[in-house]
Amino acid sequence: MDAEITLRVDGQRRTLSVDTRTTLLDALRERLGVTSPKKGCDHGQCGACTVLLDGRRATSCLTFAVANDDSEVVTAEGLAEDEQPHPMQQAFLDNDGFQCGYCTPGQICSAVGMLDEVKAGWPSHVTEDLDEPPELDDEEIRERMSGNLCRCGAYANIVSAIREAAE
Ligand code: FES
Ligand code: FES
Repeated sequence: MDAEITLRVDGQRRTLSVDTRTTLLDALRERLGVTSPKKGCDHGQCGACTVLLDGRRATSCLTFAVANDDSEVVTAEGLAEDEQPHPMQQAFLDNDGFQCGYCTPGQICSAVGMLDEVKAGWPSHVTEDLDEPPELDDEEIRERMSGNLCRCGAYANIVSAIREAAE
């Protein structure tokens, strides 16, 4: 069964007809040609498909496109403004936070969403003092980014990029 949906993707309104079983990731990549979210595992385990969905990070392989009718989707491609890289993109470049780059769009979207969660005071599994705003030390960054795997193992540089972007 097909359904017509509208998504706002990286600032552009896109209307498309999708089989109701189509994931948001496949709708973006296969139907709309938005290829910055990557298909790593297709099982919610690697984070390569992470986008910002109505401002919050989400693994697009785990959600149906039809469930996100009228949503705002921002991919790593849509983070730059006026051809200027987003501060998180710049920090990844400056800190050499990628190798093959396959996981990078997901890492960057996840890192941007994660900083907003920290700003909002959300604790993580390793936050010790739940009465104080969380301090973004390396342990917090690693824990909060643990849903994003990098097969090239660029973790150390990813952590320093995020630390720099958070400053
Ligand atoms: S492709 Fe979605 S989490 Fe791996
Ligand atoms: S840079 Fe290659 S998987 Fe992360």
